[in-house]
Amino acid sequence: MGKGKAVGGKLIAGNWKMNGLRGDGVALATAVAEWARHPVAGRSGVVAELVICPPATLLTAVGDAIAGSPVALGAQDCHPASKGAHTGDIAAPMLADLGCRYVIVGHSERRQNHREDNGLVAAKARAAHTAGLIAIVCVGETEAERDRGEALTVVGSQLEGSLPEGASAANTVIAYEPVWAIGTGRVPKPGDIAEIHDFIRRRATNRMTEGANTRLLYGGSVKAENAAELLAIDHVDGALVGGASLDAGSFTAIAAAG
Ligand code: PGA
Repeated sequence: MGKGKAVGGKLIAGNWKMNGLRGDGVALATAVAEWARHPVAGRSGVVAELVICPPATLLTAVGDAIAGSPVALGAQDCHPASKGAHTGDIAAPMLADLGCRYVIVGHSERRQNHREDNGLVAAKARAAHTAGLIAIVCVGETEAERDRGEALTVVGSQLEGSLPEGASAANTVIAYEPVWAIGTGRVPKPGDIAEIHDFIRRRATNRMTEGANTRLLYGGSVKAENAAELLAIDHVDGALVGGASLDAGSFTAIAAAG
């Protein structure tokens, strides 16, 4: 077992992105919840904690499907304000009201497609905390940045700018997701993931309350086939899973691999 936060099983969060209609979404969530009621412990001997982050349209239906199971509900984004004239946006208290425990902020697809910068991500994380949600704050370099040897610098400045005042191990999870590994089937070498996670651990320890215990997830092409190797890396406390979370068998196999 690799070094990681002191206690607890791995945290495996499924980010469905913009996928799923009611029928297939409910079926998928029901299957994951069913597995979680009789889970298989990971190699660490501890059962993983599961989170499903469906699109906002399915939060209620998925929440109903996983109700009473150990699977937690998460959202994929929130607005920094608690309410107001923001057409099409969703506020963190609305997510909490639907039963969410987690919300992803600063995913690279939002940083790129919606030009979200670190300041906005920090404001969203702060809004999540105020609403009682755990923010999953995403960071990660592009391929060009890695090729230029800037991965640590980029991740360092994203952390610096995206973690709000008051971030703690209790209210924040950090996900390292190299942009070039998302949805591509490519993953960094274990040594490269270990280097970044060790760096994030040290930054979190300096900057956050109880930062030594903050859960650090790896994300980017995590599959059933590579999960055991990835989850065994030091300071990898779980995974943020995109494509493979759309299949109950793959997602739960990842959970069982930790
Ligand atoms: P992927 O996505 O697992 O499909 O690479 C991960 C993510 O974007 O969170």
